[in-house]
Amino acid sequence: MNFLTTNNFNRAELDALIASALDLKSGVAEAKPLAGRSVALVFFNPSLRTRASMQVGIYELGGNAVILEPGSTSWTLEHREGAVMDGDKTEHLKEFVRVLERYVSAIGVRTFAELKDWETERTDPILNAFAKYASVPIINLESAMHHPCQAMADMMTIKERSDTERTEKDQNKSSESSAAKKILLTWAWHPKPLPMAVPNSFALAAAQFGHNLRIAHPKGYELDDELIEEIKKHSADAGGSVEFTNDVESAFDDVEVVYAKSWGSKYHYGNANQDIRERSVYRDKWIVDEAKMARTNDAIFMHCLPVRRNVIVTDGVIDSPRSVVIDEAENRLHVQKAILTELIKV
Ligand code: CP
Repeated sequence: MNFLTTNNFNRAELDALIASALDLKSGVAEAKPLAGRSVALVFFNPSLRTRASMQVGIYELGGNAVILEPGSTSWTLEHREGAVMDGDKTEHLKEFVRVLERYVSAIGVRTFAELKDWETERTDPILNAFAKYASVPIINLESAMHHPCQAMADMMTIKERSDTERTEKDQNKSSESSAAKKILLTWAWHPKPLPMAVPNSFALAAAQFGHNLRIAHPKGYELDDELIEEIKKHSADAGGSVEFTNDVESAFDDVEVVYAKSWGSKYHYGNANQDIRERSVYRDKWIVDEAKMARTNDAIFMHCLPVRRNVIVTDGVIDSPRSVVIDEAENRLHVQKAILTELIKV
C-alpha cells in the first residue's frame, strides 16, 4: 500500500489516521513498529519541515532514516521508460528503487513540479515511477500535484482546534459548533509561480472531510479540471459544499478557517515570465491582512510554511493568536508517524 494522495483512502481510513496521530501526540501510543528497520527519504528538492519531521518520526518509531538527495548526495536519476541515457542522468529509477528496497521497509519521495510542462507534470510522472517500480510502500512527501502528508496535518489541526473551541463553548454553555467548518482556500500573490501540490491536496482533503469549502483565486489561476471534479464529488458524498470566487474581499465573509497559498497558473507552465507579468496586478490585493480577517467568523489562519511575511500574510495576522501555522508544522510529525505505522503493517 502506498500513500500518494488522500484520494486513495476513504473517510473512515482518513479519520482513523487522524485518531492515531492524536493518540501519538498525546503519548497514548508508544509502540516501536519500525524497530530494526530503515526508511529511505528521497529529496529532489529542499525541505525543513518534511525532512526534519520524517527523520524524527522514524526515530521515534524505533527506525532509522536514510536520506538521499539525487544529483547531490546520490546519483542523478532518470525516470522515463526506455530513455537513452546519454545525457546528464547517471542511474535509472528502476535500479535505484529495486536496490533501495533491499535495504529499507518504505520510501518517502519529494519531487516538486518544475512548472515547465503542465500536461506531463499534472500526471506526477516521477512519483508514479517510484510507485511502479517499488514493492515497498511509497510515501508522497510532496509531488508535482499532491502533498497529502501536509493536508492530513492540516485536517488534524482543524479538528484539534475545533474540538478545543467546542469544549470551551460547552463549558460556557454556549451553542455547539459543527465538526464541518466554513473554510476559505485563498490564492495569494508571490513574486514567482509556485507548484500547486499544497492547494490541490488541501482542497481534496477538505472535501473528503465534509467541510464547506470556498476557493478564491484570480481568473487564470484555476486548479486542475479533473481534480476539481473529484473535489466536487467528494464534497457531495461527504455532505459538504464547494464554491469558487474571484473576489478576494467577500471571499473572507463568515469563514472559520483561512488557508493561504500561492500557486502558478497552469496556463503559463514553461513561461514563468508571463505568469510573473500577469500576477503583478495582484500584489498588495491578494494578501491576507487584518482587514480581510476582520470579515471572517473569528477564523484561524493556516499556511503550510515556508511563508513570505508581508507578501502572502501580514505580520499582524501570522503573529496573532488565531494563527495555527506552528501547530500545522508540529502535526506533520504525528500524522506521518500514524501513516508510517499503518503502511508498514500491511
Ligand atoms: N510544508 C512543508 O512541506 O515544508 P517543507 O517544504 O519545509 O518541508
